[in-house]
Amino acid sequence: MEDVIIRNALEEDFVNISEVAEECQPMETERNSIYHLFTKFFRNTCFVAELPSGGLGGFLLGFISQENPEDAYIHLLCVDPKIRGKSIGKKLIETFIEKTDSIGCKKVSLITKPINWNSISFYKKLGFIEETNGETMNVLGTTAIKNYNGPGEHMVVFYKNLD
Ligand SMILES: CC(C)(COP(=O)(O)OP(=O)(O)OC[C@H]1O[C@@H](n2cnc3c(N)ncnc32)[C@H](O)[C@@H]1OP(=O)(O)O)[C@@H](O)C(=O)NCCC(=O)NCCS
Repeated sequence: MEDVIIRNALEEDFVNISEVAEECQPMETERNSIYHLFTKFFRNTCFVAELPSGGLGGFLLGFISQENPEDAYIHLLCVDPKIRGKSIGKKLIETFIEKTDSIGCKKVSLITKPINWNSISFYKKLGFIEETNGETMNVLGTTAIKNYNGPGEHMVVFYKNLD
């Protein structure tokens, strides 16, 4: 959508982000205080897709590791179901990569549930690779890291190396 603007999140965007997030299943969502934390303290690496109406059509919440400043991480990404398939998710990812690359990051990673087929197809299309280091298991045809988020919570870990 040509008329959608991708911009850095503003602190006050967290309320609208929480509304879009209600439509993000099967992605797990957060409580408002976590959205607020991102838009207040990590807004440099958080982006929203602003619609011509002024509302939000999607968001990406990410940060850079304090442990290793070359590692960038995407915590949540969601596009409103009404406007999916119009390259908005792709633009949010590209904007995040452009930003983190420009400040010296070498790698972007994220996790998703093995049942989240849509996101797995999406990330593969954008060149993300499944992590195979560690104890892996095949869940529904996808390589997941066993117990990544605790007992029984196997997760697909995707990464992309930046140039
Ligand atoms: C995943 C998600 C963000 C994709 O957003 P989107 O705006 O619909 O995706 P885009 O239109 O930018 O698609 C980018 C590319 O991925 C492909 N793609 C997107 N969804 C796909 C799907 N379900 N199956 C196959 N390919 C898909 C598109 O065809 C497109 O390819 P192209 O560039 O060759 O045309 C969206 O489906 C979503 O919000 N899902 C719910 C929340 C979620 O699961 N988030 C990720 C977990 S953290």
